[in-house]
Amino acid sequence: MSKKPLGKIITLFNQKGGVGKTTTTCQLAGTFGHRGYDVLVADLDAQQTAGAWLSRQGGANFPATLWTGYRYKESTAAELGKLVAKYDLIFVDCAPSVDQPNTWASLLVSDLALIPTKLSPADTDALPAALALAKKARQTSGLDYPVRVVATAFRKNRPDERMALDVVGKDKNFPEFPPLKEVLSDRVAYTRSMLYGTFVHRMPNAKDAIVEIDALADAVAALLKIPASKE
Ligand SMILES: Nc1ncnc2c1ncn2[C@@H]1O[C@H](COP(=O)(O)OP(=O)(O)OP(=O)(O)O)[C@@H](O)[C@H]1O
Ligand SMILES: [Mg+2]
Repeated sequence: MSKKPLGKIITLFNQKGGVGKTTTTCQLAGTFGHRGYDVLVADLDAQQTAGAWLSRQGGANFPATLWTGYRYKESTAAELGKLVAKYDLIFVDCAPSVDQPNTWASLLVSDLALIPTKLSPADTDALPAALALAKKARQTSGLDYPVRVVATAFRKNRPDERMALDVVGKDKNFPEFPPLKEVLSDRVAYTRSMLYGTFVHRMPNAKDAIVEIDALADAVAALLKIPASKE
């Protein structure tokens, strides 16, 4: 008899566009699929970038199922509520903006929220809006799930980026939502995976990226209180 699916929802969202939401979603989803979990990627963005990513090569290079339910708006929560019965992990890729009804709906039924961000001032200035939305969604839903900022396209040799990440971690308004120490660096392997409809574990010469996304996936598993790989 097969085990009941875990049914965990991980929402990746931000007010800002182009900060790595889709890249982080697809790399994490691929990694957990590779680790034996039954994974769904819910693409809530009308741009359907995650959808295009997973559909390349007819979906043959990606170990996750795609759900293109971006039209559901508020009823996204109910739809996700049905999908949790079928999948272990549902990674939800949101459209930019904190005013999207489907982002709000997803945050009302989440087990974890991740806020990918780049580290230019234009990017970090947008973080309080995202953090405030997560806080409100937790209060409204009564769900006490973790919320974390994830630095993307990070350049560790850039002092301004290091300093920006440090400042995010010291935001006194949201001490309960710190940035993860695990980051995704600025790497071609993350971007190029999309061309092949895959993720870094299936890319050549991507050793450093694999180590990095594995560390992020381990941190995500710990926050969800699930084993790093399916048992
Ligand atoms: N870790 C990374 N290393 C290098 N480039 C990255 C990384 N993460 C994202 N990028 C690049 O940044 C750009 C935006 O990424 P992505 O589409 O994932 O962002 P997004 O937040 O989903 O954007 P949108 O708001 O349009 O949905 C892309 O060109 C992508 O390749
Ligand atoms: Mg996107």
